[in-house]
Amino acid sequence: MEGKQECLVFAVNGEKFEVPNVDPSTTLLQFLRSHTRFKSVKLGCGDGGCGACVVLLSKYDPVLDQVEDYTVSSCLTLLCSVNGCSVTTTEGLGNSKDGFHPIHQRLAGFHASQCGFCTPGICMSIYSALISAERTPHPEPLPGFSRLTVSEAEKAIAGNLCRCTGYRPIADACKSFAADVDIEDLGINSFWRKGDAKEVKVSRLPSYNPEDHICTYPEFLKDEHRSVMHLNSISCSWYSPASIEELENLLQSSVAENCTRIKVVVGNTGNGYYNEILQYDKYIDLRYIPELSVVRRDNSGIEFGATVSISKAIFSLNEETIVNLCPGGELIFKKVADHMEKIASGFIRNSASIGGNLVMAQRNYFPSDIATLLLALSSSVSILTGCKREKITLEQFFSRPPLDPRSVLLSVHIPSWEPIESAGTNESNHRLLFETYRAAPRPIGNALPYLNAAFLAKISYHKNGVLVNNIQLAFGAYGAKHSIRARKVEEHLTGKILSLGILDEAIKIVKDSVIPDDGTTFAAYRSSLAVGYLFTFLFNLAGPDYAISGVSFDELDRNLLDKALESKNDNDISQIVIPTLLSSAKQVVESSREYYPVGEPMIKFGAAIQASGEAVYVDDIPSPPNCLHGAFIYSTKPLARVKGISFKSNSLPKGVTAVISFKDIPKGGENVGSKTNPVFEPLFADDLTRYAGDRIAFVLAETQKSADVAAKLAVVDYDTQSLDPPILIVEEAVERSSFIEVPSNLHPAKVGNFLKGMAEADHSILSAKIELGSQYYFYMETQTALAIPDEDNCMVVYSSIQCPEFAHSVIARCLGIPEHNVRVITRRVGGGFGGKASKASPVATACALAAHCLRRPVRMYLDRKTDMIMAGGRHPMKITYSVGFKSNGKITALHLDILINAGQTIDASIIMPRNMVGALKKYDWGALSFDIKLCKTNHCGKTAMRAPGEVQASFIAESILENVASVLSLDVDSVRTQNLHTYESLKLFYGSATGDSIEYTLPTIWDKVARSSIFAQRIAMIEHFNSCNRWRKRGISRAPIVYEATVRPTPGKVSILWDGSIVVEVGGIELGQGLWTKVKQVTAYALSKIQCDGTEDLVEKVRIVQSDTLSLVQGGITAGSTTSEASCEAARLCCNFLVERLAPLKKKLQEQMGSVAWDVLILQAHKHSVNLAASSYYVPEPSSRGYLNYGAAVSEVELNVLTGETTILRADIVYDCGKSLNPAVDLGQIEGSFIQGVGFFMLEEYLTNADGLVVTDNTWTYKIPTIDTIPKQFNVEVLNSGHHKNRVLSSKASGEPPLLLAVSVHCATRAAIKEARKQRKSWGASDETNSIFELEVPATMPAVKKLCGLDTVECFNRGGATMTNLDSDGVPSPSKLEGKYKAMVVCWFLGLGTHVSWNSMMTIGDYYYNLFPSYHPERVLTLVYQPFALGTMLILSYNEAKIDTRKRNLMGYIIFFLSTLGLLVLDLGSSGKGGVGNYIGICIFVAAFGVANAHVQGGMAGDLSFMRPEFVQSFFAGMTASGALTSGLRMMTKAAFDKSNNGLRKGVMLFLAISTFFQFLCIFLYAFIFGQLPIVKYYRTKAASEGSITVFADLAAAGIHIEETTSNDISKHKWLSNKHLLYQNLDYGLDLYLIYVLTLSIFPGFLFENTGSHQLGSWYPVVLIAMYNMLDLIGQYTPLINSIKLESRKGLLIASLLRFLLIPAFYFTAKYGDQGWMILLVSFLGLTNGHLTICVLTAVPKGYKAPEQNALGNLLVLFLLGGVFSGVALDWLWIIGNGKF
Ligand SMILES: Cc1cc2nc3c(=O)[nH]c(=O)nc-3n(C[C@H](O)[C@H](O)[C@H](O)COP(=O)(O)OP(=O)(O)OC[C@H]3O[C@@H](n4cnc5c(N)ncnc54)[C@H](O)[C@@H]3O)c2cc1C
Ligand code: FES
Ligand code: FES
Repeated sequence: MEGKQECLVFAVNGEKFEVPNVDPSTTLLQFLRSHTRFKSVKLGCGDGGCGACVVLLSKYDPVLDQVEDYTVSSCLTLLCSVNGCSVTTTEGLGNSKDGFHPIHQRLAGFHASQCGFCTPGICMSIYSALISAERTPHPEPLPGFSRLTVSEAEKAIAGNLCRCTGYRPIADACKSFAADVDIEDLGINSFWRKGDAKEVKVSRLPSYNPEDHICTYPEFLKDEHRSVMHLNSISCSWYSPASIEELENLLQSSVAENCTRIKVVVGNTGNGYYNEILQYDKYIDLRYIPELSVVRRDNSGIEFGATVSISKAIFSLNEETIVNLCPGGELIFKKVADHMEKIASGFIRNSASIGGNLVMAQRNYFPSDIATLLLALSSSVSILTGCKREKITLEQFFSRPPLDPRSVLLSVHIPSWEPIESAGTNESNHRLLFETYRAAPRPIGNALPYLNAAFLAKISYHKNGVLVNNIQLAFGAYGAKHSIRARKVEEHLTGKILSLGILDEAIKIVKDSVIPDDGTTFAAYRSSLAVGYLFTFLFNLAGPDYAISGVSFDELDRNLLDKALESKNDNDISQIVIPTLLSSAKQVVESSREYYPVGEPMIKFGAAIQASGEAVYVDDIPSPPNCLHGAFIYSTKPLARVKGISFKSNSLPKGVTAVISFKDIPKGGENVGSKTNPVFEPLFADDLTRYAGDRIAFVLAETQKSADVAAKLAVVDYDTQSLDPPILIVEEAVERSSFIEVPSNLHPAKVGNFLKGMAEADHSILSAKIELGSQYYFYMETQTALAIPDEDNCMVVYSSIQCPEFAHSVIARCLGIPEHNVRVITRRVGGGFGGKASKASPVATACALAAHCLRRPVRMYLDRKTDMIMAGGRHPMKITYSVGFKSNGKITALHLDILINAGQTIDASIIMPRNMVGALKKYDWGALSFDIKLCKTNHCGKTAMRAPGEVQASFIAESILENVASVLSLDVDSVRTQNLHTYESLKLFYGSATGDSIEYTLPTIWDKVARSSIFAQRIAMIEHFNSCNRWRKRGISRAPIVYEATVRPTPGKVSILWDGSIVVEVGGIELGQGLWTKVKQVTAYALSKIQCDGTEDLVEKVRIVQSDTLSLVQGGITAGSTTSEASCEAARLCCNFLVERLAPLKKKLQEQMGSVAWDVLILQAHKHSVNLAASSYYVPEPSSRGYLNYGAAVSEVELNVLTGETTILRADIVYDCGKSLNPAVDLGQIEGSFIQGVGFFMLEEYLTNADGLVVTDNTWTYKIPTIDTIPKQFNVEVLNSGHHKNRVLSSKASGEPPLLLAVSVHCATRAAIKEARKQRKSWGASDETNSIFELEVPATMPAVKKLCGLDTVECFNRGGATMTNLDSDGVPSPSKLEGKYKAMVVCWFLGLGTHVSWNSMMTIGDYYYNLFPSYHPERVLTLVYQPFALGTMLILSYNEAKIDTRKRNLMGYIIFFLSTLGLLVLDLGSSGKGGVGNYIGICIFVAAFGVANAHVQGGMAGDLSFMRPEFVQSFFAGMTASGALTSGLRMMTKAAFDKSNNGLRKGVMLFLAISTFFQFLCIFLYAFIFGQLPIVKYYRTKAASEGSITVFADLAAAGIHIEETTSNDISKHKWLSNKHLLYQNLDYGLDLYLIYVLTLSIFPGFLFENTGSHQLGSWYPVVLIAMYNMLDLIGQYTPLINSIKLESRKGLLIASLLRFLLIPAFYFTAKYGDQGWMILLVSFLGLTNGHLTICVLTAVPKGYKAPEQNALGNLLVLFLLGGVFSGVALDWLWIIGNGKF
């Protein structure tokens, strides 16, 4: 083979590595961690599913002299495949010695690193996004920013998991680099203070200069690369053929060599799914074959070589050239690219190949998205088998037997599709439709779908509807082997005209076609998704809208169908686009300087080194020489005898040194692995395994990989003969009385008398059931330990554990050595959440045991699967309750029977009853009794997970109240409020933990969170939303918590060194919760009491050091949220001792020197032999031991009724932290635990098989929240509730309680489901769609969908489709917020009032002509009116956002009223005389009309713009109608009075009186009627919530009060400026201007003075004006006819311009035509004026927020008035031309 390169060469962070031979299955991660000093790459999963191992890979192209950089997951990337590449890890970006990179600094400064285990991977994802952004054509950013956009920044980390932070601060850190970021939107950080100016904030961000990029590809490697060939190494068994021929030869030679195990590789990401342990003889890397890596495009379509990565494919599909070159590009390719963006995560897509994906789908039945997409598009593939190449369709490919390992997929071709068929007589009669769908637990955050689908259809219009000419429907990932084409459905639909009946039948066939294989989870759900998607695709074309509205298809015109097509995917199924990522967040924290630096939001200690990868976790400690690695062999049976263990190979696998089990426990030792005071639990199963996951043995090997592989290869021989069946369910445990005894001191107390309480109840619910499942910790660092034997039979163990002290005594006992021979050291833990308490101990003990037995260091890092199987997790439970309550919702008694599945070991289960009751008592139940049993079952022992028992209890409490509210048909929030404790009842329930009444802050919090979340208004908005949306339902819920915390004794030790630096040891462990940071702050505060110079910066001198069980004894356990404060207190006590010891010396020195500096004092203290080391053991007083934490949250969700997907739209939290020790740290805890709670309630299914073995044991099956599943708006307020006398510096806990608040998300989901069920019932569903139901925890998509109805679509087709009342835009009319039609009528009258006065002036022009014959009244008055109208409008438009709409409109109508009345009075007063004085008086009133008009026309147009288009239309129609009305009135008065004495004047008087009445009517309608209509209230509330402050007065008048604070918050939002709006809508403004310029240049001046004398005499102008007005009015309604409604922007402009042809037409008609022509022309002028005005106003884009709509409404009126003004000015030209001037 040509170009042989035997040695693997690459660079890491600029360092060269040459590897002559390596096991080809070695991953980059394994190499980096075990052979380099770069330990920042972490192993979080090994599946490609967490991002902890992300690195930047840089490739060099010597021909183009270009470097390509992209991220990859190093856990899947094979080392050999990085030959010639350069790898950059976060260490390569910066470090503590040479300076951190701004990414490190910003992550630290935004408090975005807690345990820090995820942080290096996140740094690399951000870094890659930054360098990619520099290559985009985005505009040059401001200095300090990158070209990255905010949305790209958030997407960059969509595949990175973080279990601690809740993502919000990480998103902020990323966004801080984005060019389009609004710096004000970034959250709490250490860079700037609240109130700093924007520029100051920008300047304080750690500087970033895109130019200062790190060299990702070193020069030496470039030189090397020029001569380097592809790696073809026999010693590595790795081959990189450079051509198809070489590949053929390689494959042939393998056959010849009888080399059976060949692995063709590209990105090797497939191994993330299959986790193969099979050893291959030969690896063939396809990526160097040029033919396989090209993308070919022509107008036949696009062809991808098989090795093209998904990222490259997305790029190519989006490229303009391909979009333009291939017909259908825009429609199809862009959609395929969009769908592909949801596959895996960026760092996987960068290396995952299209070919690899298809082969996995074909050969291994992988649930591929790409297969489904390409199947729908009739794609084809080229395959090479031996020397034979063939091209077959993808469908044929899938129907073949699994591809032979020696066959290679070469390419895949996607054909072009014409978007519009040119065939046929009518070219645009045909349409091509393409859509793709995907239902996955996380929208973009790396989750396989439950089902995916892609549909392609060619349809055409037919006189009876939409004809399906051809349709291709592909479904996949639903549990069948391959993606399929639903041929029968296609056949059924092809050639048919779509109707509901046809669709109904198609749905039935789909259900029969998309059938998951046996054993597939959620089979019925998956089938229902298929139905839902087909329905979504075709429903609008099946024409229910038309059918319902009674329009036959014959009557349908093209426009209507086009509209349906356009809205096809924009109907109410997906009408609202919810942002996939976090859209906004707000944090309110208060820091107090009372105990400075305590209370400061300081950066978490160690955050920057965590980011730069320098922080050392247990597995980062370099292996000592001779170190062995261990892995557990665990049982897969729940209860069985272990007869023996063997290996598949019948001998110890390669690299394995020993296998140890309970038999190897040394003499004097015991088989113990963990301890729960005072009970010890076994390390290994002895002869009997007790649960699936029980540790049977420990394999020791030279590498971790060998140990893991060996453990997987182990075969355990079980025997279950004569054994009782295992206990796997709690009922069985009860039957067999298998319980764990709860010590009496942990028994919770009952409250009151249950029977008495029940007797007081009006209603009851008896024996209702709730069931709750488990949850896995998902700490990012799995369990790990390193044991090193030391002299004299000692053992040093480094363990990632929350309770080193416990492991210490367990190890000593297991090894049979005294405890002083053991030392357990823990520096930092990569996340614990309770899982690294007792469960970390067996890992440490096993390592110690093996090290003890083999006299060699032993370490272990559990793989994720083993960790998940052995973790135990949260306690599942079954609850039965009976509750009594009054008719008003007040609970009188509650009894619960709770069966907790504790598993096999005692562990922390004994705290469960007390914890549960503690959290249950958050409500006043009247009387509370319970029977809680800990069932001992044959499951892995459950243990404490963050808020153990409390989160379940909080849920149970809410669930009970939900059901009580449902029974009583009461609003559940009022039932909650009703049952909140008074201080007295709180005391009754919580006893001494209650504290003083002032400390009971829950009632305040309850109201506060309602106000800050605008709870009441949002309820109204949601009600409206639900009534308007069929397939999306929203729910909102508010939930409180009361959490009882217990403080435990903790030791501390503080020592001051010679240079004044301080070292602190505390019992608490740094788990990421910021314990060390708080201790640092408290130490600095307590030592500063010595009052020396230089103590202000003491915090910088403090270092907290690792926990060492021999240095500090009685460390206890870090759990229960209070270890931070207890450790702080222990440190404070030490400091107090030190201060006491230093005080005399300081006094002495002060007397000698005046002032004493800290450093001097300490130096002197050392010299004077003052004891500068103090230790303490903080034991809380009984009064300080227990206390209550309070908080409340409001969450709003939206669910998709068709898929069950739930999106958390917003969450608002208010949490009482006492006087926070560090508000930034506490905020991080609150947000992080809330999101962990969201995981429990919404996503995480920790499931077992029938034997109790965990089956959701990897990132594919276990889904924790990612950035795309957190609330889109996330607001948190850390309440500083002031002084708490028994607390540590008045502080309160924050680690666990906020997790309980996530119950609000579940309750909101339940509320939304309730709405869906109500709707279903209204469609006639006969099943049990009642309001009482239990929603599972977690409320996953299948669970939600099940409750919404798996057959919703069928149900809708049966009943709903014919019952739903659709309004003009296809949206169901609001059923509850009625008032739409009333509002339209009122708008009409208000429009009338806007023009009636002015039109009156115009229609009585003949009268004024008689009075002022030589003053051109029609022209002059118009000229007076217009500048006032326009000038006022200009001022008002400029200030529109600040002007109270109510005042503005009412003032306008009042001015109108007074001026019209004034005209009447003037005429009466002057007895109808002419003369210049009166003329001037009239002019003044007319000017007032102008001012009033600007107030009202702009004010109303702006107000109505954010309501419904019908309202705008009615308002303008009313305005026009005023013309018709005044003309009509005028004709009548003229006819009635003309002949009488002074008849003209009499008529005018009556006429003005009527006009005055209309103005008065408008004042009344606006002030008292309009704002009270529910629909108007709704839109105004919505506008307020979107930031409109102009509506507040109107809302207040309607009884809705909006908090000032809310408005302030809201006004923080940035809207488009008037300039921007104008820029985007200039053409619409111009249209209105042109329409009115033209009209007003003719009307009315020209009609009065230039039309000459005709047969109609004095009636002539009156008739002309009447005709104009009538037709103008008709024109306002003609846009209702779709066929003549103009919507195109261009069309509108052209039409407005074409109207100018009327000028010559009028001129010549006036000169030569007769009156008939003139009347016709005037009518046309009116008709086009009305028609075009409405077309423009209703076509203006609607997507803006309310304040923008308001501004736009004003701007458009400004243009309109501008047009009027210019038109009036031009009107004079007619006279000039006439010579009458
Ligand atoms: C975390 C994660 C999430 C994912 N999510 C999704 C998802 O949501 N939807 C989805 O569709 N996919 C998903 N995938 C699958 C991903 O698309 C595939 O793993 C990837 O495309 C495989 O490409 P590769 O180059 O890494 O293949 P490899 O892993 O190198 O190869 C995979 C298999 O195909 C064989 N092979 C590869 N190329 C050829 C060829 N040209 N001819 C013959 N045999 C070949 C290999 O021998 C191997 O058996 C996910 C993967 C990961 C790791
Ligand atoms: S360890 Fe590689 S993605 Fe999780
Ligand atoms: S900080 Fe992200 S996992 Fe701990």
